[in-house]
Amino acid sequence: MIAIDGPSASGKGTVASRVAAQLGFHYLDSGALYRLTALGARRAGVHLPPVEHAIPPGLEQQLATHAAGLDVRFVGEQIFLAGEEVSLALRDEQTSREASRVAALGAVRAALLQRQRDFRVAPGLVTDGRDMATVVFPDAQVKIFLTASAEERAARRYKQLIGKGLTANIDDLLRDIHERDQRDASRALAPLVQDLRASLLDTTCLTADAAVEEVLRRYHASIDAPCN
Ligand code: C5P
Repeated sequence: MIAIDGPSASGKGTVASRVAAQLGFHYLDSGALYRLTALGARRAGVHLPPVEHAIPPGLEQQLATHAAGLDVRFVGEQIFLAGEEVSLALRDEQTSREASRVAALGAVRAALLQRQRDFRVAPGLVTDGRDMATVVFPDAQVKIFLTASAEERAARRYKQLIGKGLTANIDDLLRDIHERDQRDASRALAPLVQDLRASLLDTTCLTADAAVEEVLRRYHASIDAPCN
């Protein structure tokens, strides 16, 4: 079990999925579940209030019910919601912003907890998110806190969106990243923090290949010396 946490757009998804492929392990993108909750709710006509208003308890319950009943299928890199491919829609900026808001709700997190743990099957799991090492898989064998500077993360997100044929503005992306970092790190429930047993991996000046190699090196080192 390899748990990789880190801030948005740090590249942890790319690294985690490639590590999983190299080891022949399963891969869970836990952020996708929060994104799916936000997108699915919106498509079902459940709308969030403007960002300056708190989400009321009744709406939180509605969103949690939605999260619990998500009809999701992960097929390779594709994600299906109620039979429809939504991999691209999940990444747009509105869904990104809304995912971070619904992820701050206790009832939603509780509704998604067991679903995440169910991904832990043989021969192994590599997962990425915000609370993989601290809350969902606290006994993970390898824990990594993967990060990069906000400017580098905005630049990567920009390239990713443009590469997918979407429009993007680098200043807006940087502002969104700061806002999301702030919300993820300051929320009361499962905030983004480096677990005490997690080792830091700063990828600001690393290629994805080098980051993958480094995670694999730490994984193999943990097998050779499990108590370190
Ligand atoms: O990782 P990604 O950016 O796709 O996650 C989308 C949102 O879901 C994040 O902004 C974060 O608030 C939330 N999230 C979370 N816990 C996780 C994974 C993601 O709260 N384990």
